[in-house]
Amino acid sequence: MTILVTGGAGFIGANFVLDWLAAEGDTVVNLDKLTYAGNIENLASLRGDPRHVFVQGDISDQSLVSGLLNEYCPRAVLNFAAETHVDRSIHDPSEFILTNVVGTFNLLEAVRSYWSELHTTKKQSFRFLHVSSDEVYGSLQATDSPFRETDPYEPNSPYSASKAASDHLVRAWHYTYGVPVLTTNCSNNYGPFHFPEKLIPLCILNALEGKPLPVYGDGQQIRDWVYVRDHCSAICRVLEAGKVGETYNIGGWNEKTNLEVVETICRILDEAKPRPDGKSYAQQISFIADRPGHDRRYAIDAGKLERCLGWKPEETFETGVRKTVQWYLDNPIWVSHVTSGEYRQWLNTNYDNRCSVK
Ligand code: NAD
Ligand code: TYD
Repeated sequence: MTILVTGGAGFIGANFVLDWLAAEGDTVVNLDKLTYAGNIENLASLRGDPRHVFVQGDISDQSLVSGLLNEYCPRAVLNFAAETHVDRSIHDPSEFILTNVVGTFNLLEAVRSYWSELHTTKKQSFRFLHVSSDEVYGSLQATDSPFRETDPYEPNSPYSASKAASDHLVRAWHYTYGVPVLTTNCSNNYGPFHFPEKLIPLCILNALEGKPLPVYGDGQQIRDWVYVRDHCSAICRVLEAGKVGETYNIGGWNEKTNLEVVETICRILDEAKPRPDGKSYAQQISFIADRPGHDRRYAIDAGKLERCLGWKPEETFETGVRKTVQWYLDNPIWVSHVTSGEYRQWLNTNYDNRCSVK
Protein backbone atom coordinates (compact mmCIF):
# COMPACT_ATOMS: atom_id res chain seq x y z
CA MET A 1 0.00 0.00 0.00
CA THR A 2 1.24 3.47 -0.90
CA ILE A 3 0.34 7.09 -0.22
CA LEU A 4 1.17 10.10 -2.39
CA VAL A 5 2.28 13.16 -0.44
CA THR A 6 2.73 16.53 -2.14
CA GLY A 7 5.03 19.18 -0.64
CA GLY A 8 6.78 16.55 1.47
CA ALA A 9 10.14 18.37 1.40
CA GLY A 10 8.69 21.42 3.17
CA PHE A 11 8.37 22.01 6.89
CA ILE A 12 5.16 20.15 7.75
CA GLY A 13 5.29 17.69 4.85
CA ALA A 14 8.81 16.53 5.79
CA ASN A 15 7.83 16.08 9.44
CA PHE A 16 4.80 14.11 8.27
CA VAL A 17 6.81 11.81 5.97
CA LEU A 18 9.45 11.18 8.66
CA ASP A 19 6.85 10.37 11.33
CA TRP A 20 4.78 8.27 8.93
CA LEU A 21 7.72 6.10 7.92
CA ALA A 22 9.04 5.88 11.50
CA ALA A 23 5.67 4.39 12.43
CA GLU A 24 6.28 1.83 9.65
CA GLY A 25 3.53 3.23 7.49
CA ASP A 26 2.99 2.54 3.82
CA THR A 27 5.46 3.56 1.12
CA VAL A 28 5.42 7.32 0.45
CA VAL A 29 5.69 8.82 -3.03
CA ASN A 30 6.77 12.37 -2.29
CA LEU A 31 6.07 14.93 -5.03
CA ASP A 32 7.69 18.30 -4.37
CA LYS A 33 8.70 21.15 -6.67
CA LEU A 34 11.60 22.10 -4.36
CA THR A 35 10.84 25.81 -4.27
CA TYR A 36 12.95 27.98 -1.94
CA ALA A 37 10.93 26.42 0.94
CA GLY A 38 11.45 22.80 -0.11
CA ASN A 39 14.60 21.17 1.15
CA ILE A 40 15.66 17.64 0.34
CA GLU A 41 18.01 17.77 3.35
CA ASN A 42 14.92 17.59 5.57
CA LEU A 43 14.60 14.00 4.35
CA ALA A 44 18.30 13.07 4.59
CA SER A 45 17.64 10.38 7.20
CA LEU A 46 15.53 8.50 4.61
CA ARG A 47 18.39 8.10 2.12
CA GLY A 48 18.43 4.47 0.95
CA ASP A 49 14.97 3.72 2.41
CA PRO A 50 13.02 2.02 -0.41
CA ARG A 51 9.73 3.10 1.20
CA HIS A 52 10.45 6.73 0.23
CA VAL A 53 10.23 7.63 -3.46
CA PHE A 54 11.09 11.29 -4.08
CA VAL A 55 9.92 12.97 -7.29
CA GLN A 56 10.75 16.58 -8.08
CA GLY A 57 7.77 18.13 -9.85
CA ASP A 58 4.81 20.48 -9.78
CA ILE A 59 1.29 19.63 -8.58
CA SER A 60 0.10 21.67 -11.57
CA ASP A 61 1.62 19.13 -13.96
CA GLN A 62 -1.43 16.92 -14.55
CA SER A 63 0.34 14.45 -16.78
CA LEU A 64 3.14 13.95 -14.24
CA VAL A 65 0.64 13.50 -11.39
CA SER A 66 -1.54 11.13 -13.45
CA GLY A 67 1.55 9.09 -14.35
CA LEU A 68 2.48 8.78 -10.66
CA LEU A 69 -1.05 7.83 -9.66
CA ASN A 70 -1.26 5.13 -12.33
CA GLU A 71 2.22 3.79 -11.58
CA TYR A 72 1.98 3.64 -7.77
CA CYS A 73 -1.80 3.24 -7.24
CA PRO A 74 -1.86 5.11 -3.89
CA ARG A 75 -4.69 4.54 -1.43
CA ALA A 76 -4.56 8.24 -0.51
CA VAL A 77 -3.21 11.60 -1.70
CA LEU A 78 -2.25 14.15 0.96
CA ASN A 79 -1.82 17.68 -0.35
CA PHE A 80 0.69 19.73 1.67
CA ALA A 81 2.17 21.57 -1.35
CA ALA A 82 1.61 25.32 -1.21
CA GLU A 83 3.15 28.74 -1.10
CA THR A 84 2.84 29.56 2.59
CA HIS A 85 4.42 32.80 3.74
CA VAL A 86 1.94 35.67 4.25
CA ASP A 87 4.60 38.41 3.88
CA ARG A 88 5.73 36.95 0.54
CA SER A 89 2.09 36.81 -0.60
CA ILE A 90 1.86 40.54 0.10
CA HIS A 91 5.02 41.33 -1.89
CA ASP A 92 4.05 39.07 -4.81
CA PRO A 93 0.79 37.07 -4.78
CA SER A 94 1.16 35.46 -8.22
CA GLU A 95 2.87 32.20 -7.15
CA PHE A 96 0.20 31.80 -4.45
CA ILE A 97 -2.55 31.81 -7.04
CA LEU A 98 -0.61 29.50 -9.35
CA THR A 99 0.23 26.81 -6.79
CA ASN A 100 -2.49 27.11 -4.18
CA VAL A 101 -5.43 27.65 -6.55
CA VAL A 102 -4.47 26.46 -10.05
CA GLY A 103 -2.16 23.75 -8.64
CA THR A 104 -4.88 22.37 -6.38
CA PHE A 105 -7.32 22.41 -9.31
CA ASN A 106 -4.90 20.44 -11.50
CA LEU A 107 -4.16 17.99 -8.71
CA LEU A 108 -7.89 17.46 -8.09
CA GLU A 109 -8.47 16.79 -11.79
CA ALA A 110 -5.69 14.19 -11.92
CA VAL A 111 -7.05 12.58 -8.74
CA ARG A 112 -10.63 12.60 -10.03
CA SER A 113 -9.63 10.83 -13.21
CA TYR A 114 -7.57 8.20 -11.29
CA TRP A 115 -10.22 7.67 -8.61
CA SER A 116 -13.09 7.30 -11.08
CA GLU A 117 -11.31 4.33 -12.72
CA LEU A 118 -10.62 2.45 -9.46
CA HIS A 119 -12.48 -0.78 -8.70
CA THR A 120 -15.19 -0.76 -6.02
CA THR A 121 -13.23 -1.55 -2.83
CA LYS A 122 -10.28 0.67 -3.68
CA LYS A 123 -12.64 3.40 -4.84
CA GLN A 124 -14.50 3.32 -1.54
CA SER A 125 -11.40 3.42 0.64
CA PHE A 126 -9.46 6.06 -1.37
CA ARG A 127 -9.02 9.49 0.30
CA PHE A 128 -7.83 12.92 -0.85
CA LEU A 129 -6.71 14.85 2.25
CA HIS A 130 -6.22 18.58 1.79
CA VAL A 131 -4.01 20.33 4.36
CA SER A 132 -5.25 23.86 4.99
CA SER A 133 -5.02 26.73 7.41
CA ASP A 134 -7.06 28.48 10.10
CA GLU A 135 -6.30 31.76 8.31
CA VAL A 136 -9.22 31.10 5.91
CA TYR A 137 -11.61 32.11 8.73
CA GLY A 138 -10.20 35.66 8.97
CA SER A 139 -9.42 37.58 12.14
CA LEU A 140 -11.04 37.29 15.60
CA GLN A 141 -11.79 40.04 18.13
CA ALA A 142 -10.44 39.52 21.66
CA THR A 143 -13.81 38.27 22.99
CA ASP A 144 -14.83 36.09 20.01
CA SER A 145 -15.03 32.29 20.35
CA PRO A 146 -12.28 30.29 18.63
CA PHE A 147 -12.83 29.22 15.00
CA ARG A 148 -15.24 26.31 14.46
CA GLU A 149 -15.61 24.28 11.26
CA THR A 150 -19.00 25.94 10.68
CA ASP A 151 -17.61 29.51 10.75
CA PRO A 152 -17.81 31.49 7.49
CA TYR A 153 -14.67 31.97 5.41
CA GLU A 154 -13.33 35.55 5.59
CA PRO A 155 -9.74 35.42 4.32
CA ASN A 156 -7.81 38.71 4.46
CA SER A 157 -4.37 38.11 2.92
CA PRO A 158 -3.46 36.89 -0.56
CA TYR A 159 -2.14 33.72 1.15
CA SER A 160 -5.33 33.02 3.09
CA ALA A 161 -7.52 33.90 0.09
CA SER A 162 -5.61 31.41 -2.05
CA LYS A 163 -5.94 28.71 0.62
CA ALA A 164 -9.67 29.49 0.99
CA ALA A 165 -10.07 29.14 -2.78
CA SER A 166 -8.32 25.76 -2.69
CA ASP A 167 -10.60 24.58 0.14
CA HIS A 168 -13.65 25.55 -1.93
CA LEU A 169 -12.35 23.60 -4.92
CA VAL A 170 -11.79 20.52 -2.74
CA ARG A 171 -15.32 20.82 -1.35
CA ALA A 172 -16.81 21.21 -4.83
CA TRP A 173 -14.92 18.19 -6.21
CA HIS A 174 -16.58 16.13 -3.48
CA TYR A 175 -20.10 17.49 -3.87
CA THR A 176 -20.09 17.50 -7.66
CA TYR A 177 -17.95 14.51 -8.60
CA GLY A 178 -18.01 12.46 -5.40
CA VAL A 179 -14.22 12.53 -4.85
CA PRO A 180 -13.75 11.30 -1.25
CA VAL A 181 -12.08 14.32 0.34
CA LEU A 182 -11.11 15.38 3.85
CA THR A 183 -9.94 18.90 4.74
CA THR A 184 -7.97 19.94 7.80
CA ASN A 185 -7.61 23.58 8.91
CA CYS A 186 -4.72 23.98 11.31
CA SER A 187 -3.35 26.85 13.38
CA ASN A 188 0.27 28.10 13.34
CA ASN A 189 2.85 25.31 13.46
CA TYR A 190 6.39 25.35 14.84
CA GLY A 191 9.11 22.75 15.30
CA PRO A 192 12.09 21.15 13.52
CA PHE A 193 12.81 22.01 9.85
CA HIS A 194 10.79 25.26 9.99
CA PHE A 195 12.11 27.62 7.32
CA PRO A 196 13.49 30.70 9.12
CA GLU A 197 11.34 33.26 7.33
CA LYS A 198 8.60 32.46 9.90
CA LEU A 199 8.48 34.13 13.32
CA ILE A 200 9.76 31.39 15.66
CA PRO A 201 12.82 30.11 13.73
CA LEU A 202 13.61 33.67 12.56
CA CYS A 203 13.80 34.87 16.16
CA ILE A 204 15.85 31.87 17.35
CA LEU A 205 18.44 32.40 14.63
CA ASN A 206 18.48 36.22 14.80
CA ALA A 207 18.94 36.02 18.57
CA LEU A 208 21.94 33.74 18.22
CA GLU A 209 23.46 35.98 15.54
CA GLY A 210 23.03 39.10 17.71
CA LYS A 211 20.52 40.61 15.27
CA PRO A 212 17.24 42.45 16.05
CA LEU A 213 14.17 40.31 16.80
CA PRO A 214 11.61 42.00 14.53
CA VAL A 215 8.16 42.31 16.12
CA TYR A 216 5.49 43.78 13.83
CA GLY A 217 3.41 46.65 15.22
CA ASP A 218 2.65 46.37 18.95
CA GLY A 219 3.31 42.60 19.14
CA GLN A 220 -0.14 42.02 20.67
CA GLN A 221 -1.43 39.96 17.74
CA ILE A 222 -2.44 36.47 18.85
CA ARG A 223 -1.68 33.14 17.19
CA ASP A 224 -2.67 29.67 18.42
CA TRP A 225 0.46 27.52 18.25
CA VAL A 226 0.64 23.77 17.62
CA TYR A 227 3.78 21.64 17.61
CA VAL A 228 4.29 20.29 14.10
CA ARG A 229 4.37 16.63 15.14
CA ASP A 230 0.99 17.07 16.86
CA HIS A 231 -0.35 18.47 13.58
CA CYS A 232 1.04 15.39 11.79
CA SER A 233 -0.56 12.97 14.25
CA ALA A 234 -3.88 14.77 13.78
CA ILE A 235 -3.61 14.40 9.99
CA CYS A 236 -2.95 10.65 10.41
CA ARG A 237 -6.02 10.35 12.62
CA VAL A 238 -8.23 12.25 10.14
CA LEU A 239 -6.93 10.11 7.27
CA GLU A 240 -7.66 6.95 9.21
CA ALA A 241 -11.06 7.79 10.68
CA GLY A 242 -12.31 11.13 9.32
CA LYS A 243 -15.76 11.25 7.72
CA VAL A 244 -15.59 11.83 3.97
CA GLY A 245 -16.54 15.37 2.94
CA GLU A 246 -15.95 16.77 6.44
CA THR A 247 -13.49 19.40 7.60
CA TYR A 248 -11.56 19.19 10.89
CA ASN A 249 -9.93 22.08 12.76
CA ILE A 250 -6.56 21.27 14.32
CA GLY A 251 -5.05 23.38 17.11
CA GLY A 252 -3.02 23.17 20.25
CA TRP A 253 -5.08 25.35 22.61
CA ASN A 254 -2.04 27.64 22.91
CA GLU A 255 -3.05 31.24 22.25
CA LYS A 256 -0.07 33.57 22.69
CA THR A 257 0.69 37.14 21.69
CA ASN A 258 3.65 37.47 19.34
CA LEU A 259 5.52 39.37 22.04
CA GLU A 260 4.97 36.48 24.51
CA VAL A 261 6.31 34.07 21.90
CA VAL A 262 9.46 36.11 21.31
CA GLU A 263 10.00 36.63 25.05
CA THR A 264 9.64 32.86 25.66
CA ILE A 265 12.29 32.13 23.03
CA CYS A 266 14.60 34.69 24.69
CA ARG A 267 14.08 33.13 28.12
CA ILE A 268 14.87 29.62 26.87
CA LEU A 269 17.96 30.84 25.02
CA ASP A 270 19.11 32.78 28.09
CA GLU A 271 19.31 29.42 29.88
CA ALA A 272 20.45 27.20 27.01
CA LYS A 273 23.03 29.50 25.43
CA PRO A 274 23.59 32.68 27.47
CA ARG A 275 24.82 35.78 25.62
CA PRO A 276 28.56 36.38 26.11
CA ASP A 277 27.77 39.76 27.78
CA GLY A 278 25.40 38.08 30.28
CA LYS A 279 22.44 40.23 29.18
CA SER A 280 19.10 38.77 28.04
CA TYR A 281 18.34 38.15 24.37
CA ALA A 282 15.17 40.17 25.07
CA GLN A 283 17.37 43.27 24.65
CA GLN A 284 17.37 42.48 20.91
CA ILE A 285 13.57 42.81 20.55
CA SER A 286 12.78 45.53 18.04
CA PHE A 287 9.27 46.78 17.19
CA ILE A 288 8.98 47.51 13.48
CA ALA A 289 6.32 48.69 11.02
CA ASP A 290 3.30 46.37 10.95
CA ARG A 291 2.34 43.95 8.19
CA PRO A 292 -0.39 45.44 5.96
CA GLY A 293 -3.78 43.88 6.75
CA HIS A 294 -2.31 42.05 9.73
CA ASP A 295 -4.91 39.69 11.24
CA ARG A 296 -5.23 40.45 14.96
CA ARG A 297 -6.14 37.07 16.40
CA TYR A 298 -6.42 33.44 15.34
CA ALA A 299 -7.70 30.75 17.70
CA ILE A 300 -8.84 27.21 16.92
CA ASP A 301 -11.58 25.20 18.56
CA ALA A 302 -10.27 21.65 18.04
CA GLY A 303 -13.24 20.16 19.92
CA LYS A 304 -14.69 18.31 16.91
CA LEU A 305 -11.45 16.43 16.29
CA GLU A 306 -11.15 15.59 19.98
CA ARG A 307 -14.77 14.46 20.37
CA CYS A 308 -15.24 12.61 17.09
CA LEU A 309 -11.79 11.15 16.52
CA GLY A 310 -10.24 11.15 20.00
CA TRP A 311 -7.18 13.25 19.05
CA LYS A 312 -5.29 15.45 21.51
CA PRO A 313 -2.01 17.35 21.16
CA GLU A 314 0.90 16.00 23.20
CA GLU A 315 2.95 19.18 23.55
CA THR A 316 2.19 22.34 25.47
CA PHE A 317 3.68 25.53 24.01
CA GLU A 318 6.41 25.53 26.66
CA THR A 319 7.54 21.91 26.00
CA GLY A 320 7.27 22.27 22.22
CA VAL A 321 9.22 25.51 22.07
CA ARG A 322 11.99 24.09 24.26
CA LYS A 323 12.34 21.14 21.87
CA THR A 324 12.34 23.52 18.92
CA VAL A 325 15.02 25.85 20.30
CA GLN A 326 17.18 22.82 21.12
CA TRP A 327 16.70 21.45 17.60
CA TYR A 328 18.03 24.69 16.07
CA LEU A 329 20.99 24.66 18.49
CA ASP A 330 21.74 21.04 17.55
CA ASN A 331 21.51 21.51 13.76
CA PRO A 332 23.92 24.29 12.72
CA ILE A 333 24.71 22.66 9.36
CA TRP A 334 21.03 22.53 8.33
CA VAL A 335 20.75 26.16 9.44
CA SER A 336 23.81 27.29 7.48
CA HIS A 337 22.48 25.62 4.31
CA VAL A 338 19.04 27.25 4.45
CA THR A 339 20.20 30.73 5.44
CA SER A 340 22.21 31.53 2.33
CA GLY A 341 21.37 32.89 -1.13
CA GLU A 342 17.67 33.45 -1.72
CA TYR A 343 17.01 33.68 2.02
CA ARG A 344 19.35 36.67 2.42
CA GLN A 345 17.60 38.38 -0.49
CA TRP A 346 14.21 37.85 1.17
CA LEU A 347 15.44 39.39 4.45
CA ASN A 348 16.51 42.50 2.52
CA THR A 349 13.14 42.70 0.74
CA ASN A 350 11.05 42.34 3.89
CA TYR A 351 13.09 44.09 6.59
CA ASP A 352 15.24 46.78 4.96
CA ASN A 353 13.54 50.18 5.01
CA ARG A 354 10.93 48.93 7.52
CA CYS A 355 11.05 51.65 10.14
CA SER A 356 11.28 51.06 13.86
CA VAL A 357 8.02 51.98 15.66
CA LYS A 358 9.05 52.27 19.34
P1 NAD B 1 6.43 25.14 3.39
O1 NAD B 1 6.40 26.44 2.70
O2 NAD B 1 7.47 24.87 4.43
O3 NAD B 1 6.54 23.94 2.33
C1 NAD B 1 5.78 23.90 1.17
C2 NAD B 1 6.34 22.78 0.28
O4 NAD B 1 5.56 22.73 -0.90
C3 NAD B 1 7.79 23.02 -0.14
O5 NAD B 1 8.53 21.83 0.01
C4 NAD B 1 7.67 23.40 -1.61
O6 NAD B 1 8.80 23.05 -2.39
C5 NAD B 1 6.42 22.63 -2.02
N1 NAD B 1 5.74 23.23 -3.18
C6 NAD B 1 5.43 24.54 -3.37
N2 NAD B 1 4.82 24.70 -4.55
C7 NAD B 1 4.71 23.47 -5.11
C8 NAD B 1 4.15 22.98 -6.32
N3 NAD B 1 3.58 23.81 -7.21
N4 NAD B 1 4.22 21.64 -6.56
C9 NAD B 1 4.82 20.80 -5.68
N5 NAD B 1 5.38 21.22 -4.54
C10 NAD B 1 5.31 22.52 -4.24
O7 NAD B 1 4.98 24.96 4.00
P2 NAD B 1 4.49 24.23 5.32
O8 NAD B 1 4.57 25.19 6.44
O9 NAD B 1 5.14 22.91 5.42
O10 NAD B 1 2.93 24.06 4.98
C11 NAD B 1 2.44 22.85 4.40
C12 NAD B 1 0.94 22.97 4.23
O11 NAD B 1 0.33 23.20 5.50
C13 NAD B 1 0.52 24.16 3.36
O12 NAD B 1 -0.56 23.75 2.56
C14 NAD B 1 0.09 25.22 4.35
O13 NAD B 1 -0.87 26.08 3.79
C15 NAD B 1 -0.49 24.37 5.44
N6 NAD B 1 -0.45 24.96 6.78
C16 NAD B 1 0.71 25.49 7.28
C17 NAD B 1 0.74 26.02 8.57
C18 NAD B 1 2.00 26.56 9.18
O14 NAD B 1 1.95 27.14 10.28
N7 NAD B 1 3.17 26.40 8.55
C19 NAD B 1 -0.45 26.02 9.35
C20 NAD B 1 -1.62 25.49 8.79
C21 NAD B 1 -1.61 24.95 7.52
P1 TYD C 1 4.32 33.99 10.60
O1 TYD C 1 5.31 33.07 11.25
O2 TYD C 1 4.72 34.67 9.33
O3 TYD C 1 2.95 33.19 10.44
P2 TYD C 1 1.47 33.74 10.00
O4 TYD C 1 1.58 35.07 9.39
O5 TYD C 1 1.05 32.69 9.02
O6 TYD C 1 0.65 33.74 11.26
O7 TYD C 1 3.94 35.13 11.65
C1 TYD C 1 3.42 34.79 12.94
C2 TYD C 1 3.06 36.11 13.60
O8 TYD C 1 4.28 36.82 13.87
C3 TYD C 1 2.23 37.02 12.73
O9 TYD C 1 1.29 37.70 13.55
C4 TYD C 1 3.22 38.00 12.15
C5 TYD C 1 4.27 38.10 13.23
N1 TYD C 1 5.65 38.35 12.75
C6 TYD C 1 6.41 39.37 13.35
O10 TYD C 1 5.95 40.07 14.27
N2 TYD C 1 7.68 39.58 12.89
C7 TYD C 1 8.23 38.85 11.87
O11 TYD C 1 9.39 39.12 11.47
C8 TYD C 1 7.45 37.80 11.29
C9 TYD C 1 7.99 36.96 10.17
C10 TYD C 1 6.17 37.58 11.77
